[in-house]
Amino acid sequence: MHGRRDRRSGAPGPSLDSFFVSEPTPISEPAVQAAVDAALAAIATAGTTAELKAARSVHAAEGSQLARFNAQLRNVPADRKAALGKLVGQARARVNQAIAAREAELSEAEERERLRRETVDVTEVPSRWRPGARHPLSTLMERMGDVFVAMGWEIAEGPELENEWFNFDAMNFDADHPARAMQDTLFVDPVDSHLLLRTHTSPVQIRSLLERPLPVYVVAPGRVYRSDELDATHTPVFHQIEGLAVDRGLTMAHLRGTLEHLARAMFGAEAQIRLRPNYFPFTEPSAEMDVWQPHAKGGARWVEWGGCGMVNPNVLRAGGIDPDEYQGFAFGMGIERTLQFRNDMNDMRDMVEGDVRFSQQFGMVV
Ligand code: DAH
Repeated sequence: MHGRRDRRSGAPGPSLDSFFVSEPTPISEPAVQAAVDAALAAIATAGTTAELKAARSVHAAEGSQLARFNAQLRNVPADRKAALGKLVGQARARVNQAIAAREAELSEAEERERLRRETVDVTEVPSRWRPGARHPLSTLMERMGDVFVAMGWEIAEGPELENEWFNFDAMNFDADHPARAMQDTLFVDPVDSHLLLRTHTSPVQIRSLLERPLPVYVVAPGRVYRSDELDATHTPVFHQIEGLAVDRGLTMAHLRGTLEHLARAMFGAEAQIRLRPNYFPFTEPSAEMDVWQPHAKGGARWVEWGGCGMVNPNVLRAGGIDPDEYQGFAFGMGIERTLQFRNDMNDMRDMVEGDVRFSQQFGMVV
């Protein structure tokens, strides 16, 4: 530190020794050999092309010992010029050759290393986020809704936490109807709140009649609840789609034609339906609807699909409608059940477990 400061200030000091121009080393065989040895050692130990460049500037470039010997050749006596010229020339050639050889070696190694680093293993299994899939119950419910939207019907909604009056009374269930009993219905505390988890989508019928101007053509897909244990054929939470049409002059023929259209949209052009007499409090007459599945896996068959009928006048009245002027038809079916026989599934639990591999079998429907 001191030495350098002294040099800059020009003050005399021990470090100035290095600034005295020393006598040039005379050209001799051992001196040239020593310069060559030093150069070769530096070249051999250069581990990178950058280090090799540094070794060249010290041992072979302008200012190096060998370059100085070369410059001194001008001053040597004529009789020794040829011999010393040859000595220095050969030495420089040897060093330059060593540099070139090492350079080739190093750049090849560096290239190899670069290629190794950039290697891409095309056989490696890529780890990436896999796309999920929509649940088949959602897509099926949407498809069924779309069949009606295409005919000009509307999608209606109602709450899952429903009032007992909408779920039962307005739908013409007697006060002591067994469906109200605890084993079917999940009532919500306190019991005198008269709230329950809706047991079917039918209360949306009354809500639609009270909310909408006539005529009414709605479908209401949605979630419903019953106090069942989960097993292969039951689940306490499931889905239904409800349909309701209220207009002037509607008959059972309109109901039949509508359901047949739905059946063909869902099961193919050859599908048929049949209606069997049944009983529901909210329809009169009421029917059970079966669908003819021509392409079922185990062969063509009739399957029970849902309930339907002409809207009971008491239901129309509860919805504020004069049954002498307007008629209605209604229907309702389970979505899980539809998925089960439409896609040949035998265990309901697969539908509720939420394993994406189950949903993926139905394709990437959006
Ligand atoms: N709500 C009935 C059930 O949950 C299904 C049903 C039957 C709906 C007949 C209807 C109908 O609209 O007309 O089992």
